[in-house]
Amino acid sequence: MNHDITTSAPWRALSSHHAQVATLHMRELFRNSPERAIAFSLEAAGLFLDYSKNRIVPETMQRLLDLARTADVEGQRDAMLAGAIINNTERRAVLHTALRRPASQALVLDGTNIMPGIAEVQRRMRGLVDALAGGHWRGYSGQRITDVVNIGIGGSHLGPCMATDALRAHHRTGLRVHYVSNVDPGDLSHTLATLHPESTLFIVVSKTFTTQETSANAQAARNWLLQSFGDGRAVASHMIAVTSNVEAAQRFGIEPANTFEMWEWVGGRYSLWSAVGLSTACAVGGDAFAEMLAGAYAMDSHFQQAPLEMNMPVALALLGVWYHNFFGAESLCVVPYDESLRHFPAYLQQLDMESNGKRVDRAGRPVQTSTGPVLWGGTGTNSQHAFFQLLHQGGRLVPLDLLVGLRNPRPIADQHDILVANCIAQAEALMRGRTLDETRREMRSSGVEEGRIEQLAPHRVFPGNRPSNLIVYPELTPRVLGALIALYEHKVFVQGAIWGLNSFDQWGVELGKQLAGTVLRELQGGAQVEHDASTAALVALYRSRREAGDAGD
Ligand code: F6P
Repeated sequence: MNHDITTSAPWRALSSHHAQVATLHMRELFRNSPERAIAFSLEAAGLFLDYSKNRIVPETMQRLLDLARTADVEGQRDAMLAGAIINNTERRAVLHTALRRPASQALVLDGTNIMPGIAEVQRRMRGLVDALAGGHWRGYSGQRITDVVNIGIGGSHLGPCMATDALRAHHRTGLRVHYVSNVDPGDLSHTLATLHPESTLFIVVSKTFTTQETSANAQAARNWLLQSFGDGRAVASHMIAVTSNVEAAQRFGIEPANTFEMWEWVGGRYSLWSAVGLSTACAVGGDAFAEMLAGAYAMDSHFQQAPLEMNMPVALALLGVWYHNFFGAESLCVVPYDESLRHFPAYLQQLDMESNGKRVDRAGRPVQTSTGPVLWGGTGTNSQHAFFQLLHQGGRLVPLDLLVGLRNPRPIADQHDILVANCIAQAEALMRGRTLDETRREMRSSGVEEGRIEQLAPHRVFPGNRPSNLIVYPELTPRVLGALIALYEHKVFVQGAIWGLNSFDQWGVELGKQLAGTVLRELQGGAQVEHDASTAALVALYRSRREAGDAGD
């Protein structure tokens, strides 16, 4: 494959094609070809995607598919699913998909079938969840565990936290699940204030078991237990670990018997499906967790088997490339019309931006185009009353993904209809807009006087032609959530494959971590190190004001 995709024939063809279609308005496209509503839609793993409100014509998709073929997306996909070492900088396979694959389908890595090991961890997870829910796992003083606290950050937090919240209507075990991630002491202390040591179980989740924030919070949680029980043996009943660094967990004081294994071939931001999802399983129970895995597997099978032109993750990825690289759209806004998915945009931020926010390709050569959109968003309808103004009338092009369920597990009167109506109407408004003539006519028919019309009409014009994808699901069940997450995982993969990136490393988080260690030593009285003038002044300010007991208030 040509490493620089921007010099490929399909890329050049897309550039010329862009010049032809960029001025077309979607209103006209719908008027001339109403059948695009069906032609540009897909169904997979229980999800329906309407991508007809995009600035595309059939030729656009053909050319984008040519691009995917030139980048050998299918070959790269098959290599990932087969366990090839595609994370080349860390020399690792990328096998989060194995975690949701049926145990009967062997998958050999380095001469060993990894499926029995996965099944064994899943069996232990189920055992723990059942023991907690059934009151068989007791705290050190014999009390039943009522509260589970997940301590982790990044991929060891965002996935399980998002999924537990998303599945609120499916919580079955009676266990309350909490999340502590930030090293800001307010996070842990706020959570602990509502809990009792005798009835609390901490799950320390860290793939490396070296992450500063998680270590600090885990240590503080341990001290909280020790202060209450006055006996180190209590830790065994109140702390478990999920990690690939079993020795470090043991040094911390968590026995291998209380440690759930993670594998090197599961990336942090792809780890929700492993024991990292234990807190979610604690909330929803083992069966619902298995359903979530099954939903993801259904999407994996679709991604693996559907031809590229019918492939939902591929379609989303190609549309993203179209806007990002050819229209110059900097960001992607994700708006679930589903309050249960309120943490979904934050989860996707790590998935997308940590995976594809890179400027060199797999071989370390500069990528000749921009990669990885800035992903942001919020829930509908709240976002409509916050940032939709910019989406409708601002000067930037911001493509959107809108998500909505057909049914609500907790209906109240006609509120779900109102929610769905808003979602569909926003997609329509973004697409069609409102011309100056239409605005004037509407104002006239409402009896507004002419002078006022001339003054206000320009402010009330909507250019439209703003693209959106609409993803519809029956109801947010564990199965649907699994499929939805896997859809975005594969979409991110396809984009990384087109740009020639390694989507599975994250060297960009290293430098800040390293410098924080140096600054911390200085803040705590260590020798001063050479910095730029601004950094040196800030360190000095913190030290002097803190010593003087003045935080600047
Ligand atoms: O922020 C960098 C990162 O390495 C993420 O990729 C990861 O999800 C997070 O830190 C937490 O890492 P760990 O699970 O090793 O504590």
